[in-house]
Amino acid sequence: MEKIIVLGGKGGVGKSSISAATAVLLSDLLPNKKILIISFDMAHNLSDLFKLEIGNRVTQLTTNLWGIEPDADEYAERYTKDLIEKMKNLSKQMPLVGKIPQIEKFIDTTFTSDSIPLALKNAMFFQKILDAEDINTQEIQFDIIVADFPPTANMITLFEIPEDQVKVMLKYSLNFYNSVKGAIRNISKVWRNIMKPFDNYEERRELGKEIFNMIVELEKRGERISNLIHDIGSLRLVTIAEKPSFEEIKRARDLTTRYIQLEGVHINMIIPEPKKCDFCSKIRSQQLKYTSEIIKEFKKLKIWESEKLREEPIGLDGLRVLAYEVYGSNVNVDDIINPKP
Ligand SMILES: Nc1ncnc2c1ncn2[C@@H]1O[C@H](COP(=O)(O)OP(=O)(O)OP(=O)(O)O)[C@@H](O)[C@H]1O
Ligand SMILES: [Mg+2]
Repeated sequence: MEKIIVLGGKGGVGKSSISAATAVLLSDLLPNKKILIISFDMAHNLSDLFKLEIGNRVTQLTTNLWGIEPDADEYAERYTKDLIEKMKNLSKQMPLVGKIPQIEKFIDTTFTSDSIPLALKNAMFFQKILDAEDINTQEIQFDIIVADFPPTANMITLFEIPEDQVKVMLKYSLNFYNSVKGAIRNISKVWRNIMKPFDNYEERRELGKEIFNMIVELEKRGERISNLIHDIGSLRLVTIAEKPSFEEIKRARDLTTRYIQLEGVHINMIIPEPKKCDFCSKIRSQQLKYTSEIIKEFKKLKIWESEKLREEPIGLDGLRVLAYEVYGSNVNVDDIINPKP
Protein backbone atom coordinates (compact mmCIF):
# COMPACT_ATOMS: atom_id res chain seq x y z
CA MET A 1 0.00 0.00 0.00
CA GLU A 2 1.35 3.41 -0.96
CA LYS A 3 -1.12 5.94 0.31
CA ILE A 4 -4.27 6.26 2.40
CA ILE A 5 -6.20 9.40 1.49
CA VAL A 6 -8.65 10.39 4.23
CA LEU A 7 -11.36 12.98 3.67
CA GLY A 8 -12.79 14.65 6.76
CA GLY A 9 -14.88 17.66 7.74
CA LYS A 10 -18.31 18.76 8.90
CA GLY A 11 -21.49 16.92 7.92
CA GLY A 12 -22.87 17.51 4.46
CA VAL A 13 -19.95 19.46 2.98
CA GLY A 14 -19.14 16.90 0.27
CA LYS A 15 -16.67 14.48 1.91
CA SER A 16 -18.23 11.41 0.32
CA SER A 17 -18.67 13.03 -3.08
CA ILE A 18 -15.07 14.29 -3.20
CA SER A 19 -13.79 10.91 -1.92
CA ALA A 20 -15.66 9.11 -4.67
CA ALA A 21 -14.65 11.65 -7.33
CA THR A 22 -11.00 11.39 -6.23
CA ALA A 23 -11.09 7.60 -6.36
CA VAL A 24 -12.61 7.61 -9.86
CA LEU A 25 -10.09 10.16 -11.15
CA LEU A 26 -7.15 8.24 -9.66
CA SER A 27 -8.38 5.03 -11.25
CA ASP A 28 -8.64 6.81 -14.63
CA LEU A 29 -5.20 8.41 -14.35
CA LEU A 30 -3.44 5.38 -12.88
CA PRO A 31 -4.67 2.35 -14.83
CA ASN A 32 -1.89 0.17 -13.40
CA LYS A 33 -2.73 0.90 -9.77
CA LYS A 34 -5.45 -0.76 -7.76
CA ILE A 35 -7.63 1.68 -5.87
CA LEU A 36 -10.10 0.96 -3.07
CA ILE A 37 -12.67 3.36 -1.67
CA ILE A 38 -13.93 2.52 1.83
CA SER A 39 -16.78 4.21 3.63
CA PHE A 40 -16.09 4.54 7.35
CA ASP A 41 -19.31 6.41 7.92
CA MET A 42 -22.00 4.21 9.48
CA ALA A 43 -24.48 6.03 7.25
CA HIS A 44 -22.95 4.68 4.05
CA ASN A 45 -23.83 6.36 0.79
CA LEU A 46 -21.23 5.10 -1.68
CA SER A 47 -23.86 2.96 -3.39
CA ASP A 48 -25.96 6.07 -4.01
CA LEU A 49 -22.95 8.01 -5.27
CA PHE A 50 -21.85 5.29 -7.67
CA LYS A 51 -25.42 4.24 -8.50
CA LEU A 52 -24.29 0.66 -7.89
CA GLU A 53 -25.01 -1.73 -5.04
CA ILE A 54 -21.75 -1.92 -3.04
CA GLY A 55 -22.42 -3.20 0.49
CA ASN A 56 -20.31 -5.26 2.83
CA ARG A 57 -18.02 -6.96 0.30
CA VAL A 58 -15.25 -5.54 -1.88
CA THR A 59 -17.11 -4.72 -5.10
CA GLN A 60 -15.50 -3.92 -8.43
CA LEU A 61 -16.55 -0.52 -9.82
CA THR A 62 -14.23 -0.03 -12.80
CA THR A 63 -11.32 -2.12 -14.11
CA ASN A 64 -9.04 -0.93 -11.30
CA LEU A 65 -11.39 0.57 -8.72
CA TRP A 66 -13.19 -1.27 -5.95
CA GLY A 67 -15.47 -0.11 -3.15
CA ILE A 68 -16.73 -1.42 0.18
CA GLU A 69 -19.29 -0.23 2.71
CA PRO A 70 -18.35 -2.45 5.62
CA ASP A 71 -20.96 -3.50 8.13
CA ALA A 72 -19.25 -2.36 11.32
CA ASP A 73 -21.47 -4.54 13.50
CA GLU A 74 -20.67 -7.66 11.58
CA TYR A 75 -16.94 -6.98 11.78
CA ALA A 76 -17.08 -6.09 15.44
CA GLU A 77 -19.09 -9.19 16.21
CA ARG A 78 -16.71 -11.43 14.31
CA TYR A 79 -13.61 -10.03 15.97
CA THR A 80 -14.88 -9.68 19.50
CA LYS A 81 -16.66 -13.04 19.65
CA ASP A 82 -13.53 -14.95 20.56
CA LEU A 83 -12.60 -12.57 23.32
CA ILE A 84 -16.15 -12.53 24.71
CA GLU A 85 -16.24 -16.35 24.69
CA LYS A 86 -12.98 -16.53 26.63
CA MET A 87 -14.14 -13.92 29.13
CA LYS A 88 -17.36 -15.85 29.61
CA ASN A 89 -15.49 -19.08 30.15
CA LEU A 90 -13.15 -17.42 32.58
CA SER A 91 -16.07 -16.07 34.56
CA LYS A 92 -17.68 -19.46 34.58
CA GLN A 93 -14.49 -20.92 36.05
CA MET A 94 -14.75 -18.61 39.01
CA PRO A 95 -15.67 -20.43 42.21
CA LEU A 96 -19.44 -20.92 42.34
CA VAL A 97 -20.34 -19.46 39.00
CA GLY A 98 -20.28 -22.68 36.99
CA LYS A 99 -22.22 -24.50 39.66
CA ILE A 100 -25.13 -22.14 39.91
CA PRO A 101 -27.27 -22.10 36.79
CA GLN A 102 -28.70 -18.62 37.43
CA ILE A 103 -25.26 -17.03 37.38
CA GLU A 104 -24.22 -18.95 34.31
CA LYS A 105 -27.39 -17.76 32.60
CA PHE A 106 -26.73 -14.21 33.80
CA ILE A 107 -23.28 -14.28 32.19
CA ASP A 108 -24.59 -15.77 28.95
CA THR A 109 -27.30 -13.18 28.55
CA THR A 110 -25.37 -10.15 29.79
CA PHE A 111 -22.12 -10.55 27.90
CA THR A 112 -22.63 -10.64 24.21
CA SER A 113 -20.70 -8.68 21.63
CA ASP A 114 -23.46 -6.06 21.96
CA SER A 115 -22.09 -5.24 25.40
CA ILE A 116 -18.75 -4.05 23.98
CA PRO A 117 -18.63 -0.24 23.89
CA LEU A 118 -19.55 1.14 20.48
CA ALA A 119 -16.40 3.22 20.14
CA LEU A 120 -14.25 0.17 20.73
CA LYS A 121 -16.21 -1.87 18.23
CA ASN A 122 -15.85 0.78 15.58
CA ALA A 123 -12.17 1.08 16.23
CA MET A 124 -11.66 -2.67 16.02
CA PHE A 125 -13.46 -2.79 12.73
CA PHE A 126 -11.48 0.19 11.38
CA GLN A 127 -8.23 -1.53 12.26
CA LYS A 128 -9.27 -4.88 10.93
CA ILE A 129 -10.13 -3.30 7.62
CA LEU A 130 -6.93 -1.33 7.35
CA ASP A 131 -4.88 -4.25 8.58
CA ALA A 132 -5.96 -5.63 5.26
CA GLU A 133 -6.65 -9.19 6.32
CA ASP A 134 -10.17 -8.83 5.09
CA ILE A 135 -9.92 -6.56 2.12
CA ASN A 136 -7.16 -8.77 0.82
CA THR A 137 -9.05 -12.03 1.13
CA GLN A 138 -9.92 -11.52 -2.52
CA GLU A 139 -6.17 -11.40 -3.13
CA ILE A 140 -6.21 -7.89 -4.48
CA GLN A 141 -3.31 -5.87 -3.16
CA PHE A 142 -4.50 -2.29 -3.12
CA ASP A 143 -2.05 0.51 -3.88
CA ILE A 144 -4.18 3.44 -2.83
CA ILE A 145 -7.04 3.57 -0.36
CA VAL A 146 -9.46 6.49 -0.28
CA ALA A 147 -11.29 6.61 3.05
CA ASP A 148 -14.58 8.46 3.34
CA PHE A 149 -14.82 9.40 7.00
CA PRO A 150 -17.71 10.37 9.25
CA PRO A 151 -17.95 14.00 10.50
CA THR A 152 -15.15 15.23 12.76
CA ALA A 153 -16.05 13.91 16.22
CA ASN A 154 -16.37 10.32 15.03
CA MET A 155 -13.32 10.70 12.86
CA ILE A 156 -11.21 11.56 15.90
CA THR A 157 -12.48 8.49 17.72
CA LEU A 158 -11.30 6.29 14.88
CA PHE A 159 -7.83 7.80 15.09
CA GLU A 160 -7.49 7.85 18.81
CA ILE A 161 -8.80 4.47 19.77
CA PRO A 162 -5.99 2.37 18.28
CA GLU A 163 -3.75 4.06 20.85
CA ASP A 164 -6.18 3.83 23.72
CA GLN A 165 -8.02 0.66 23.09
CA VAL A 166 -6.15 -1.47 25.58
CA LYS A 167 -7.25 0.93 28.29
CA VAL A 168 -10.81 0.77 27.02
CA MET A 169 -10.59 -3.01 26.85
CA LEU A 170 -9.28 -3.31 30.39
CA LYS A 171 -11.96 -1.01 31.67
CA TYR A 172 -14.53 -3.10 29.89
CA SER A 173 -13.08 -6.30 31.37
CA LEU A 174 -13.15 -4.81 34.84
CA ASN A 175 -16.80 -3.87 34.44
CA PHE A 176 -17.41 -7.40 33.30
CA TYR A 177 -15.83 -8.92 36.40
CA ASN A 178 -17.52 -6.48 38.72
CA SER A 179 -20.89 -7.53 37.36
CA VAL A 180 -20.06 -11.20 37.86
CA LYS A 181 -18.80 -10.49 41.37
CA GLY A 182 -22.00 -8.54 42.03
CA ALA A 183 -24.02 -11.54 40.98
CA ILE A 184 -22.00 -13.80 43.28
CA ARG A 185 -22.31 -11.42 46.18
CA ASN A 186 -26.04 -11.99 46.10
CA ILE A 187 -25.59 -15.67 46.90
CA SER A 188 -25.53 -16.81 50.50
CA LYS A 189 -22.25 -17.10 52.34
CA VAL A 190 -23.02 -20.70 53.24
CA TRP A 191 -23.11 -21.68 49.58
CA ARG A 192 -19.94 -19.82 48.87
CA ASN A 193 -18.06 -21.74 51.56
CA ILE A 194 -19.44 -25.08 50.50
CA MET A 195 -18.25 -24.47 46.94
CA LYS A 196 -14.76 -23.21 47.72
CA PRO A 197 -12.94 -26.56 47.33
CA PHE A 198 -14.24 -26.88 43.79
CA ASP A 199 -12.33 -23.88 42.60
CA ASN A 200 -10.35 -24.93 39.49
CA TYR A 201 -7.60 -22.38 39.66
CA GLU A 202 -5.35 -23.93 37.00
CA GLU A 203 -7.93 -23.71 34.24
CA ARG A 204 -8.64 -20.17 35.16
CA ARG A 205 -4.98 -19.30 34.97
CA GLU A 206 -4.68 -20.76 31.47
CA LEU A 207 -7.67 -18.80 30.26
CA GLY A 208 -6.34 -15.69 31.92
CA LYS A 209 -3.14 -16.11 29.92
CA GLU A 210 -5.03 -16.52 26.66
CA ILE A 211 -7.03 -13.36 27.32
CA PHE A 212 -3.84 -11.53 28.18
CA ASN A 213 -2.31 -12.62 24.87
CA MET A 214 -5.34 -11.43 22.97
CA ILE A 215 -5.04 -8.04 24.61
CA VAL A 216 -1.35 -7.89 23.70
CA GLU A 217 -2.29 -8.74 20.08
CA LEU A 218 -4.84 -5.97 20.15
CA GLU A 219 -2.27 -3.52 21.35
CA LYS A 220 0.16 -4.57 18.62
CA ARG A 221 -2.46 -4.14 15.96
CA GLY A 222 -3.37 -0.73 17.35
CA GLU A 223 0.27 0.25 17.07
CA ARG A 224 0.56 -1.11 13.55
CA ILE A 225 -2.44 0.91 12.43
CA SER A 226 -1.31 4.08 14.17
CA ASN A 227 2.05 3.78 12.42
CA LEU A 228 0.48 3.07 9.05
CA ILE A 229 -1.79 6.12 9.31
CA HIS A 230 1.14 8.17 10.48
CA ASP A 231 3.42 7.04 7.64
CA ILE A 232 1.19 6.88 4.56
CA GLY A 233 -2.02 8.59 5.70
CA SER A 234 -2.90 11.94 4.12
CA LEU A 235 -5.75 13.94 5.57
CA ARG A 236 -7.65 16.42 3.45
CA LEU A 237 -10.30 18.52 5.15
CA VAL A 238 -13.41 19.47 3.24
CA THR A 239 -15.30 22.67 4.01
CA ILE A 240 -17.81 24.98 2.44
CA ALA A 241 -17.08 28.71 2.45
CA GLU A 242 -19.09 29.41 5.59
CA LYS A 243 -18.17 30.09 9.17
CA PRO A 244 -19.35 26.94 11.03
CA SER A 245 -17.69 24.58 8.62
CA PHE A 246 -14.50 26.70 8.57
CA GLU A 247 -14.40 26.65 12.39
CA GLU A 248 -14.83 22.90 12.33
CA ILE A 249 -11.86 22.24 10.05
CA LYS A 250 -9.67 24.43 12.27
CA ARG A 251 -10.65 22.23 15.22
CA ALA A 252 -10.18 19.09 13.16
CA ARG A 253 -6.70 20.24 12.16
CA ASP A 254 -5.72 20.74 15.81
CA LEU A 255 -7.23 17.47 16.98
CA THR A 256 -5.70 15.28 14.30
CA THR A 257 -2.10 16.54 14.09
CA ARG A 258 -0.76 13.81 16.33
CA TYR A 259 -2.28 11.03 14.24
CA ILE A 260 -2.11 11.96 10.57
CA GLN A 261 -0.51 14.47 8.28
CA LEU A 262 -2.86 17.16 6.98
CA GLU A 263 -2.02 17.76 3.33
CA GLY A 264 -4.82 19.83 1.88
CA VAL A 265 -8.14 21.63 2.17
CA HIS A 266 -11.10 21.45 -0.18
CA ILE A 267 -13.37 24.49 -0.32
CA ASN A 268 -16.43 22.99 -1.93
CA MET A 269 -19.77 24.16 -3.29
CA ILE A 270 -18.79 27.76 -4.03
CA ILE A 271 -21.68 29.37 -5.89
CA PRO A 272 -20.68 30.12 -9.50
CA GLU A 273 -20.70 33.72 -10.67
CA PRO A 274 -24.39 34.49 -11.12
CA LYS A 275 -25.73 36.49 -14.09
CA LYS A 276 -28.95 38.02 -12.80
CA CYS A 277 -29.55 37.08 -9.20
CA ASP A 278 -28.98 39.58 -6.41
CA PHE A 279 -29.42 36.97 -3.75
CA CYS A 280 -26.89 34.61 -5.39
CA SER A 281 -24.40 37.47 -5.82
CA LYS A 282 -24.73 38.32 -2.15
CA ILE A 283 -24.15 34.72 -1.08
CA ARG A 284 -21.25 34.36 -3.48
CA SER A 285 -19.51 37.47 -2.19
CA GLN A 286 -19.90 36.20 1.39
CA GLN A 287 -18.46 32.87 0.31
CA LEU A 288 -15.54 34.57 -1.39
CA LYS A 289 -14.82 36.43 1.84
CA TYR A 290 -14.66 33.14 3.74
CA THR A 291 -12.70 31.53 0.92
CA SER A 292 -9.93 34.09 1.32
CA GLU A 293 -9.99 33.64 5.11
CA ILE A 294 -9.67 29.88 4.71
CA ILE A 295 -6.81 30.29 2.24
CA LYS A 296 -5.05 32.63 4.67
CA GLU A 297 -5.53 30.25 7.60
CA PHE A 298 -4.29 27.19 5.68
CA LYS A 299 -1.70 28.93 3.52
CA LYS A 300 0.88 26.22 4.15
CA LEU A 301 -1.34 23.62 2.53
CA LYS A 302 -2.69 22.79 -0.87
CA ILE A 303 -6.13 24.39 -1.35
CA TRP A 304 -8.59 23.04 -3.88
CA GLU A 305 -11.62 25.18 -4.71
CA SER A 306 -14.71 23.72 -6.34
CA GLU A 307 -17.96 25.30 -7.38
CA LYS A 308 -21.43 24.04 -6.75
CA LEU A 309 -22.46 22.04 -9.80
CA ARG A 310 -25.89 22.37 -11.33
CA GLU A 311 -26.27 18.61 -11.63
CA GLU A 312 -25.92 16.32 -8.65
CA PRO A 313 -22.51 14.64 -9.07
CA ILE A 314 -23.52 10.97 -9.05
CA GLY A 315 -22.72 7.93 -11.16
CA LEU A 316 -19.25 7.42 -12.66
CA ASP A 317 -19.75 10.24 -15.16
CA GLY A 318 -21.16 12.66 -12.59
CA LEU A 319 -18.24 11.91 -10.29
CA ARG A 320 -15.78 12.56 -13.13
CA VAL A 321 -17.39 15.97 -13.69
CA LEU A 322 -16.93 16.74 -9.99
CA ALA A 323 -13.34 15.44 -10.06
CA TYR A 324 -12.43 17.82 -12.90
CA GLU A 325 -14.20 20.67 -11.10
CA VAL A 326 -12.15 19.92 -7.98
CA TYR A 327 -8.73 19.17 -9.47
CA GLY A 328 -8.92 21.03 -12.81
CA SER A 329 -9.08 19.46 -16.26
CA ASN A 330 -5.32 19.23 -16.82
CA VAL A 331 -4.46 17.89 -13.40
CA ASN A 332 -1.24 16.10 -12.72
CA VAL A 333 -1.81 12.90 -10.77
CA ASP A 334 1.07 13.61 -8.42
CA ASP A 335 -0.70 16.79 -7.29
CA ILE A 336 -3.54 14.61 -6.05
CA ILE A 337 -1.38 12.01 -4.36
CA ASN A 338 1.35 14.25 -2.95
CA PRO A 339 -0.10 17.74 -2.95
CA LYS A 340 2.17 20.76 -2.51
CA PRO A 341 0.88 24.20 -1.57
N1 LIG B 1 -19.52 20.51 -5.77
C1 LIG B 1 -20.77 20.06 -5.62
N2 LIG B 1 -21.75 20.49 -6.43
C2 LIG B 1 -23.02 20.08 -6.29
N3 LIG B 1 -23.43 19.23 -5.36
C3 LIG B 1 -22.50 18.74 -4.52
C4 LIG B 1 -21.12 19.12 -4.61
N4 LIG B 1 -20.45 18.47 -3.63
C5 LIG B 1 -21.35 17.72 -2.98
N5 LIG B 1 -22.59 17.87 -3.50
C6 LIG B 1 -23.87 17.30 -3.02
O1 LIG B 1 -24.02 17.70 -1.66
C7 LIG B 1 -24.65 16.69 -0.89
C8 LIG B 1 -23.75 16.32 0.29
O2 LIG B 1 -22.56 15.73 -0.19
P1 LIG B 1 -21.87 14.47 0.51
O3 LIG B 1 -22.86 13.43 0.83
O4 LIG B 1 -20.72 14.12 -0.35
O5 LIG B 1 -21.39 15.19 1.85
P2 LIG B 1 -20.74 14.52 3.14
O6 LIG B 1 -19.82 15.55 3.71
O7 LIG B 1 -20.18 13.20 2.81
O8 LIG B 1 -22.03 14.36 4.06
P3 LIG B 1 -22.17 13.46 5.39
O9 LIG B 1 -21.49 14.23 6.47
O10 LIG B 1 -23.64 13.38 5.55
O11 LIG B 1 -21.51 12.16 5.10
C9 LIG B 1 -24.87 15.55 -1.83
O12 LIG B 1 -26.20 15.61 -2.30
C10 LIG B 1 -23.90 15.80 -2.98
O13 LIG B 1 -24.38 15.28 -4.20
MG1 LIG C 1 -20.53 11.32 3.65
